Amino acid sequence: MSKRAETDASPHYHPIGIFFHWLMAAMVFVQLWWGWRTSAMMAGYEKADAYVIHAQLGAAIMLVAFLRLGWRIIAPFVAPRLEAPEDLPGWQHLAAELTHWALYALMIALPLSGLLMIGATAPETMERALGLTGFRDMDVVARAQLEHLMERVHFVLVWGMVGFIALHVGAGLKHHFVDRDDVLARMIPWLGGDRPEPEGSAARKAKIAKAAR
Ligand code: HEM
Ligand code: HEM
Repeated sequence: MSKRAETDASPHYHPIGIFFHWLMAAMVFVQLWWGWRTSAMMAGYEKADAYVIHAQLGAAIMLVAFLRLGWRIIAPFVAPRLEAPEDLPGWQHLAAELTHWALYALMIALPLSGLLMIGATAPETMERALGLTGFRDMDVVARAQLEHLMERVHFVLVWGMVGFIALHVGAGLKHHFVDRDDVLARMIPWLGGDRPEPEGSAARKAKIAKAAR
C-alpha cells in the first residue's frame, strides 16, 4: 500500500454512515421492545393501534435500510477509504462481514414478513398504517395460509435478529475492553485516542509495526 493511500484513509466511518448506523440501531431496539409489548397486550382497539405503529416503524426501518445500503455502495466513491483494523485475524474479518450482511438482510426481511403477516391477518390495519389495499382482494384461504407462514417466519427472524445483534455488540465490546483496539471507535469516533494497549497485545504490536514503517 502506498504511503499516500495510507494517510488518505479514515480511521472511522464517514459521519453519514455513523448517522445511519445509530439511527437504525435506535429504531431496531425500539421496534423489538414495541413488538413484544404489543403482542403481550389484550386483543382490542389499543392493540390494533399499537400494530399500526409497529407496521409504520417497521416500514421506516426497511426504508432506512435501503438508504443505508445505497450509501454503503456509493461511499467508496465519494468518501475517504476506511482504514482496515491492523491486527484482525482473517476469520474475524470474515465473521464481521457475514454478521453485517446478515443484519442488512434482516433489516429488510423482518419488516417484509411483518407486512405480509399483518396484510393477511388484518387488511384494515394495513390500510390504516400504510394505505395498502391489495390484501382485501385476496382469497380467504390464501390469506390464512400466508398469515400462518409469515407468523412463523417473523418469529424466527426476530430471534435471528436478537442473536446477530448479541454477537455484533458482544464483538464490539470485546474489541474495546479486552483487545483494546480501535474497532468500536470506527463507529464511535470520540472513543478513539491514545489508549495504552496491554503489553504484548496484537493491537500494540500492530501500532509499533506501523510506527516503524
Ligand atoms: C425490523 C422490523 C421489525 C421488528 C424488529 C419486529 C419485531 C417484532 C417482535 C419482537 C414481535 C413479538 C414477537 C413475539 O411475541 O414473540 C413482533 C410481532 C409482530 N410483528 Fe413485528 N417486527 C418488525 C416489523 C414488523 C412489521 C413491518 C410488521 C407489519 C405490520 C410487523 C407485524 C407484526 C405482527 C402482526 C406481530 C404479532 C405476531 C404474533 O403475535 O403472532 N412487524 N414483531
Ligand atoms: C449497542 C449497539 C451496537 C454497537 C455497539 C455497534 C457497533 C458497531 C461497530 C463498532 C461497527 C463497525 C465494525 C467494523 O467496522 O468492523 C458496526 C458496524 C455495523 N453495524 Fe453495528 N452496533 C450496534 C448495533 C447495531 C444494530 C442494532 C444493527 C442493525 C440491526 C447494526 C448493524 C451494523 C452494520 C450493518 C454494520 C456494518 C456497517 C457497514 O459497513 O455498512 N449495529 N457496528
